Amino acid sequence: EMNAFIDDLMGQMTLQEKIGQLTLLTSDWESTGPTMRDTYQADIRAGRVGSIFNAYTADYTRQLQELAVEGTRLKIPLLFGYDVIHGHRTIFPISLGEAASWDMDAIERSARVSAAEASSEGIHWTFSPMVDIARDARWGRISEGAGEDVYLGSQVARARVRGYQGDDLGAVDTVLATAKHFAAYGAAQAGRDYHTVDISERTLRDVYLPPFKAAVDEGVATFMTSFNEYNGVPASGSRYLLTDVLRDQWGFDGFVVTDYTSINEMIPHGYSRDLQQAGEQALNAGVDMDMQGAVFMEHLKQSIDAGTASQADIDQAVRRILEMKYRLGLFEDPYRYSDNARQDATLYKPEFLEAARDVARKSMVLLKNEGNTLPLVAGAKNIALIGPLADSKADMIGSWAAAGDRQTRPVTILEGMRQRAGEGTRINYVKGASYEFASSGSTDGFAEAVAAAEQADVVVAVMGEKWDMTGEAASRTALDLPGNQQALLERLVATGKPVVLVVLSGRPNSIGWADDNVEAILHAWYPGTMGGHAVADVLFGDYNPSGKLPVTFPLTVGQEPLHYDMKNTGRPYSADNPQQKYLSRYLNTPNDPLYRFGYGLSYTNFSYSPVTLSNPTLSANGSLTASATITNTGDRAGAEVVQMYVRDLVGSVTRPVQELKGFEKVILQPGESRTVSFRIEPKDLAFTRADMSHGWEPGEFNLWIAPSSGLEASAPVTFNLTE
Ligand code: IFM
Repeated sequence: EMNAFIDDLMGQMTLQEKIGQLTLLTSDWESTGPTMRDTYQADIRAGRVGSIFNAYTADYTRQLQELAVEGTRLKIPLLFGYDVIHGHRTIFPISLGEAASWDMDAIERSARVSAAEASSEGIHWTFSPMVDIARDARWGRISEGAGEDVYLGSQVARARVRGYQGDDLGAVDTVLATAKHFAAYGAAQAGRDYHTVDISERTLRDVYLPPFKAAVDEGVATFMTSFNEYNGVPASGSRYLLTDVLRDQWGFDGFVVTDYTSINEMIPHGYSRDLQQAGEQALNAGVDMDMQGAVFMEHLKQSIDAGTASQADIDQAVRRILEMKYRLGLFEDPYRYSDNARQDATLYKPEFLEAARDVARKSMVLLKNEGNTLPLVAGAKNIALIGPLADSKADMIGSWAAAGDRQTRPVTILEGMRQRAGEGTRINYVKGASYEFASSGSTDGFAEAVAAAEQADVVVAVMGEKWDMTGEAASRTALDLPGNQQALLERLVATGKPVVLVVLSGRPNSIGWADDNVEAILHAWYPGTMGGHAVADVLFGDYNPSGKLPVTFPLTVGQEPLHYDMKNTGRPYSADNPQQKYLSRYLNTPNDPLYRFGYGLSYTNFSYSPVTLSNPTLSANGSLTASATITNTGDRAGAEVVQMYVRDLVGSVTRPVQELKGFEKVILQPGESRTVSFRIEPKDLAFTRADMSHGWEPGEFNLWIAPSSGLEASAPVTFNLTE
């Protein structure tokens, strides 16, 4: 039925109308890239554009939809896309923070809430999930993904796609998802955004592609290309990525949109001599829709006339896009998503706010807690709350909170703590420092902050990065606390009062000094609209922290890129031989990070039994089960993310020192034990072998079940994989 409808419609379309369907333009409500096109409404009326982004609300999408449906010959409805990245109106923690929950149900729920809110404002399509693996904390967009790990990243990709799309693309409260940015965008050299990527095909396949493949397996509707080049070819012109891998190897049947003007950018890349050639290269590579560049709109017809682009490619792209519009039910009712009553009944629903608070507390990672400084005791306490991020609504929701309110809705940490602490506790708030880079060296505000600290029982310093210091085009060459925050922190510690550092940031920070000198550290990311309540929940112990790092925290920026699953090298550093010079090491710092991938503390303690294996060998068609018993040895209930790592000891190519292959989050009452089991099959141990085929190899493996990554985190067991 759908095919017949689309055949019929396409039979009536002119070439220009078809090219219109391949064109996506931004409205003038917002800009998420360097160009604007103020003729977009005229373009809609003329049938020159098939999709619009950066437009929302039931009224506005209806108004624009009318231009398309009533103003054009064939009445083809517009598709509305938008960056709904970590919540739409109700803002959840930034994506990296959500990943730190290791809670796939919570992440799916977050995406589901985002879809419900966005779709009620006329949005059909979100430019999320961002599934780029990121292993360099200098890169600002590390905040938008699920971190450094292939396995965790793939699970999170699936959870988000499920959450956005649900089981039925035609349901009015779901949206199309986008796996972006295809591919290897996170491997930008030196962490500088939009920079060159130069990685091996093996690394592409084993590290950067799996979360995209996971999104395809979950049925993701669309893909977005990346700004970077791969193997010398800009992604929007890469037939290898967009056709050979995505279509031919993976069987993806949705449509591919470029990133913002990335076809045009093939000229400065040095890949296209002019826009007409760029358009031809993009179409030929497998791009279906041109975001904002208007290259298809303005040049494809000439290419068809000249015989340098293929009509069949255009038809195929049009068909893919019309199929999505059809599946959304837009041909039946172009206005079905633009419904004021549903919008009013949906935005900021109490249960959505509650879900945001829940994910926020689950995302927080307790990095240090000496002498049980946390949780704070509510009542009869004098708390000095210091720092530029303690009472800043704008910062709570982080970057890419596109329709998020930065002025009124977010609950700040001061508000959350005051509300929770109640009458008996005095919370004395002093800003004290600034995160602006230019404030470095200034001591403005220090005296007041130090005076407050001196009068307090405990100091809570809320420091970190301004919300727009991570995200797109927000790379840094230092990972410290910017501005004069570090200097103030040192002054606060010098008072001798116990100091709790709460970090708000979208990336790993090099907070080694704090780790040595403050009593407790909580990494709270940008926790979203309900963030202040969530921080208070954790600080006062109403919620026992359970987050684990989805990225390695370096000791110093000079270690970057840094990730747990590195190779051993021929001269591995050994702690047994610390004086040996000719080893793979630094002269001035350890190799080890400050905090490992997978690390995070709780207010209780967990013990791990030795690992047992169901059998010592794994055969080609068999499976084996690895188990360990985890016990809550403390005196409060808590959740623990139990992680399973393997190491393939010898391969036809060298293998990482550890790779995450499974995890399970368990909730344990004081004294309770639970045996956690992981099933392993040979296919779970596959990689890109020396001959570039994908598969496993027989041999010996180490296996850990542990509270974090790290070769010393627990003792491994060994098994053999046999032919
Ligand atoms: O979705 C984004 C992308 O991540 C970066 N460039 C702009 C797009 C649309 O706003």
